[in-house]
Amino acid sequence: MAFRFNFTSEDLDPEAPGTEQLSPATHALPALFCLAHTTRSTVHFQDYNSEVIRLVTIPNLLINTAYHDQTQSQLPSSAEAELEIDTQSDLLQQDPVAHLGPLAQRCRFFAGDWAHLASNLNIPSEAYKYDLILTSETIYAHASQAKLYALIRSILKRSGMALIAAKSMYFGLDGNVLSFAQLVESRGEMTLTTLYRFGAQVQREILKLTFK
Ligand SMILES: C[S@@+](CC[C@H](N)C(=O)[O-])C[C@H]1O[C@@H](n2cnc3c(N)ncnc32)[C@H](O)[C@@H]1O
Repeated sequence: MAFRFNFTSEDLDPEAPGTEQLSPATHALPALFCLAHTTRSTVHFQDYNSEVIRLVTIPNLLINTAYHDQTQSQLPSSAEAELEIDTQSDLLQQDPVAHLGPLAQRCRFFAGDWAHLASNLNIPSEAYKYDLILTSETIYAHASQAKLYALIRSILKRSGMALIAAKSMYFGLDGNVLSFAQLVESRGEMTLTTLYRFGAQVQREILKLTFK
């Protein structure tokens, strides 16, 4: 199942030249927003599992971009519309990226552990690092927080920003916003601030991570 959605945010500069964004994927809606509403930015998608990229992220990308016109007539004009995608179809069994057409030049997809991503990316210099990193629900495990931090630190431009969406705390899991904030503080290299806090029963936050 994949989702089609309508964007309303006016936050992005659609013509910002050469903007590079990295997004941990799954449904990757904020990253899709960046891609669909900009013309010159490059968006890289990452998930631990290649199946997630192939069966969830890329289908979402297709119906929101390259397949947008074809799917338009199949959906009600609702932001909550859903579209069934046949995961056994040729589209997904063969080379799904090929279906992106010209958009493929503005996207790349990576699967694997954060511990190896920086070396896989093999970024040659500061100019090739990311302007924006988007990640959500990725700081719930204390042991993984250091890997995520190290990755962001090594691939984010000095002038860039990472936006991290997370629950303030996770029941039954040992990672939370406080433990991530303590990790960032202990390294002394970057600043973590809370941009938004919302949610009544389960409090969620949007955190901003930048270099000092
Ligand atoms: C709870 S899911 C959240 C998925 C998606 N960002 C969302 O908000 O719906 C956690 C994600 O963290 C990523 N993740 C967790 N630990 C990871 C690791 N060590 N290396 C790479 N990715 C990891 C996985 O790819 C997984 O999709």
